[in-house]
Amino acid sequence: MKNICHICCIGAGYVGGPTMSVIADKCPDIQIKVVDINPERISAWNSSDLSKLPIYEPGLDQIVSRTRGRNLFFSTDIENSISEADMVFISVNTPTKTSGLGAGQASDLRWVEASARQVAQCAKGHTIVVEKSTLPVRTAQTIKEILDTTKQNNLVQGKNPTFSVLSNPEFLAEGTAVNDLERPDRVLVGGEDTDAIESLVNIYLKWVPLERIIKTNLWSSELSKLTANAFLAQRISSINSISALCEVTGADVAEVSNAIGADKRIGREFLAPGPGFGGSCFKKDILNLVYLCGYFGIPEVGNYWQQVVELNNWQQKRICKIVLQKLFGTVNGKHIAILGFSFKANTNDTRESPAIQISLDLLEEGAKLSIYDPKVKPQRIQEDIDEYSKNSPGQWTVANDISEALKGADALLILTDWDEFKNLDWNYLSTLMRTPTWVFDTRSVVNSIDIKNAGINLWRLGEGV
Ligand code: UDX
Ligand code: ADP
Repeated sequence: MKNICHICCIGAGYVGGPTMSVIADKCPDIQIKVVDINPERISAWNSSDLSKLPIYEPGLDQIVSRTRGRNLFFSTDIENSISEADMVFISVNTPTKTSGLGAGQASDLRWVEASARQVAQCAKGHTIVVEKSTLPVRTAQTIKEILDTTKQNNLVQGKNPTFSVLSNPEFLAEGTAVNDLERPDRVLVGGEDTDAIESLVNIYLKWVPLERIIKTNLWSSELSKLTANAFLAQRISSINSISALCEVTGADVAEVSNAIGADKRIGREFLAPGPGFGGSCFKKDILNLVYLCGYFGIPEVGNYWQQVVELNNWQQKRICKIVLQKLFGTVNGKHIAILGFSFKANTNDTRESPAIQISLDLLEEGAKLSIYDPKVKPQRIQEDIDEYSKNSPGQWTVANDISEALKGADALLILTDWDEFKNLDWNYLSTLMRTPTWVFDTRSVVNSIDIKNAGINLWRLGEGV
């Protein structure tokens, strides 16, 4: 078994950054370089002001502060970092393809392919290549083929590289990444080369109990990641479908969720209704699954999973319709505050955030939005909204705080469950808003009694009337 002394991680994003920080923290004897083609991202990771790290994750700044410069380094020197490494993690982005074959479903593997080519060209000796990004099943095979066929130049230079490919999917959820990495439910390592598997397992054994480390073949590992995300997303679409039924029947989805969650076969996790799931993984992974099913001639299975995404799209779209209905059929020219723009609390990530679609729908209706999020930067909001709202009659601005967002507003939409939205002084806030005043709470975070006592109308997702 090869003892790992040098790791290179290609991709300094939401997966690569926190994962390597925790490995560096737990394994001070391993030198880790996290590399990226994006120099701004790398300089943000190297920023002396820890509040300027490119991603926000609770607890991450402390880990970076004790490991950076010791055995954790962020760099744009991809070539040297690969050639020094015994093990290379590929943690690059794999978004859904927007054009060509499989557009709208299959993952775009161009960044994975570019990384594999670079590893083939720069590696020395035996290198274990670990796929970390969420990838379609059988991508490891592609990586293997690229490594074996592209290493020719390298051979000419006498470096004589050999490779083993492992799949080690990441199960961290944003907002709880540090905890998920430090105390994982399981670590999955898929591969064929038992020696390489042991080298990777040995790293995790520094802090993860052996019984939590699952070894599988490559394809099972890749498919397990897609399936885990599909199951989680399916639970959210299931409870969201019931939230709509509650609203029309007079049931309360919080009570239903509590009642069904008490059955230990169902369990309590992932039963919170909301404006639809977001994040970079759920939709992409399900669409990947659907594409695979089509490719392998089982469209019936693909159609089944496709419905999870359809229901999610519907859930996002119905929020604007409800706002319209409550505000006398029009929001044209009305001020609406949006609280929360990230796809969930405790992250500055907005990828696939339901807040994007809901804001676009309201802008299409001519609303004047004032958007506040504790961690998302105004530039991010601009990039998410501007391109798609060019012809919309509505207008939007970013507010610096909740009071500013609410000034003169007819309505307020809570779209992310940030803690700071939970205990607001509604008596004071109601004085800033126009009457009749509406609060639309899609995350069940506000205290309904306080709201009603302040003379505000409340609509809560999944609450029947
Ligand atoms: C997910 C998986 O949880 C993680 O294991 C995988 O590695 C990456 O994808 P992430 O997307 O970071 O993680 O966040 P997650 O906590 O799963 O939430 C996804 C979305 O579902 C969010 O928009 C969240 O608000 C929503 N959600 C989650 C609900 O609406 N209700 C719930 O009960 C749980
Ligand atoms: P994830 O959530 O999967 O971590 P991100 O988009 O946050 O996705 O991060 C992926 C990172 O990978 C980005 O910072 C991007 O610049 C980087 N990247 C993409 N392709 C390459 C490449 N060929 N070499 C180095 N870095 C890359």
